[in-house]
Amino acid sequence: MEFTIKTGTPEKLKTGTLVVGVFADGKLTEAAAALDKASKGRLAAILKRGELDDKAGSVATIHDLSGSACERVLLVSLGKADEFGDKAWRDAIGACAKALANGPADEAAVCLADADVPGRAFERRLQQLTCAIADATYRYDATKGLRKDKSPRRGARKVVLLTANKISAAMESAIKRGQAVAEGMALAKELGNLPANICTPTHLADTAKELGKQFKIKVEVLERDDMEKLGMGSLISVTRGSHQPPKFIVMHYKGAKGKEKPVVLVGKGITFDTGGISLKPAAEMDEMKYDMCGAASVLGTFKAVARMALPINVVGIIPATENMPGGGATKPGDVVTSMSGQTIEILNTDAEGRLILCDALTYAERFKPACVIDIATLTGACVVALGKIPSGLLANDDGLARELLDCGTASGDRAWQLPLWEEYQELLKSNFADMGNIGGRYAGTITAACFLSRFTKAYKWAHLDIAGTAWVSGEAKGATGRPVPLLSEFLIARSEAAGS
Ligand code: BES
Ligand code: MN
Ligand code: ZN
Repeated sequence: MEFTIKTGTPEKLKTGTLVVGVFADGKLTEAAAALDKASKGRLAAILKRGELDDKAGSVATIHDLSGSACERVLLVSLGKADEFGDKAWRDAIGACAKALANGPADEAAVCLADADVPGRAFERRLQQLTCAIADATYRYDATKGLRKDKSPRRGARKVVLLTANKISAAMESAIKRGQAVAEGMALAKELGNLPANICTPTHLADTAKELGKQFKIKVEVLERDDMEKLGMGSLISVTRGSHQPPKFIVMHYKGAKGKEKPVVLVGKGITFDTGGISLKPAAEMDEMKYDMCGAASVLGTFKAVARMALPINVVGIIPATENMPGGGATKPGDVVTSMSGQTIEILNTDAEGRLILCDALTYAERFKPACVIDIATLTGACVVALGKIPSGLLANDDGLARELLDCGTASGDRAWQLPLWEEYQELLKSNFADMGNIGGRYAGTITAACFLSRFTKAYKWAHLDIAGTAWVSGEAKGATGRPVPLLSEFLIARSEAAGS
């Protein structure tokens, strides 16, 4: 998809679909007012008939509007003018993106970025708009066989972003960022959606190597032997029931000076979670192919960061394995020794994410990180607590937590913090090891993070539980590409802070 930005008013523009915003009760944006004037009041008259619903994100198409050079005008409702904010803005650009991705026009012009969202700078809106439009073009096709869509692809290929503002370099770079983030999301979505018989640990490692070829990213892949030599007994214990070779993927993106401390991203890469011997029930178990979405978000973020050529150092670590029951599988009650030397009584083999992450978090120490962020579809409890709107956030450093919360708000890919108080640590007591791997019925997301916190004492650390946000279930089942926007935003902000 090709994006350009132009200064101007919309009525003279020759294009397939022209997108303009309208507030509830027919209150026109500047762009819509210009069209209305050119059409001698026709636009306002059409709106007066109730053609467009007041709810933000509603759309209506008008063909061959008089006085306008475009084939069709797509009116997008921005909701009530005095209630216009983040949610209405997201709904409006989402609707615009969907209509352009599925509509008949090859070329489109979009006038939405001038809509003034309180607290959001113009460049920010431009980035989000671009990202939404590019992201809406993602399609899953890889395994569709006869159902593969062979008809020529519909949807806009060229998009002009129209504004009344003077164009600046910052605007051009905002558009590039939006595209890069969408590209990262597309990779994360594709990996998430691929079935577990294709998206194996080996496939994740191959994807990382592919990124290494495409961009300036160094990729190392450690094999089972290497993990054993490093003493990763906890990670190894999860791999025992599976016939798929586990992979421990390490990626280095160096955009800043060699000495600058890296941000380390650690992604849970369980390519299928059966629960192991603590087998999960059958219903919806297929969705456990998404248990590598943390890993996918690290790969997607690397792609976005490399595409933007951000001046920052980033290390990505992905412990990847299946969690299967099998003759060699770990049994409830087994005690294993982690790379840190701490022993773990595995009381439930379905709490496997923390078992692979803890060794990856210990491994992360060698990079002397500026901070470490792990991303994991870690607990069903997180979905119970927060639903599917924000990711869960827990951290051993309030400054880092604040930064991530703010980047969540800025990107629209939000997180919500839960406490990591000392009192919860008691719940992990074991009679036979330094800790158990589960904390009982209550506060499951917090006790999971408490477990991880025992391996992150050497650095500033935050944990994102994306169990509720990485994919949607039901009819529209599919990966969301989250939290690539949040992580990208964080790295953009960090790279700008370092540069200034
Ligand atoms: N991958 C799951 C978490 C999960 C479950 C994410 C459902 C999204 C939807 C994780 O490995 C798991 O099984 N966690 C257990 C932990 C429990 C055994 C302490 C859970 O949440 O039930
Ligand atoms: Mn599990
Ligand atoms: Zn899992």
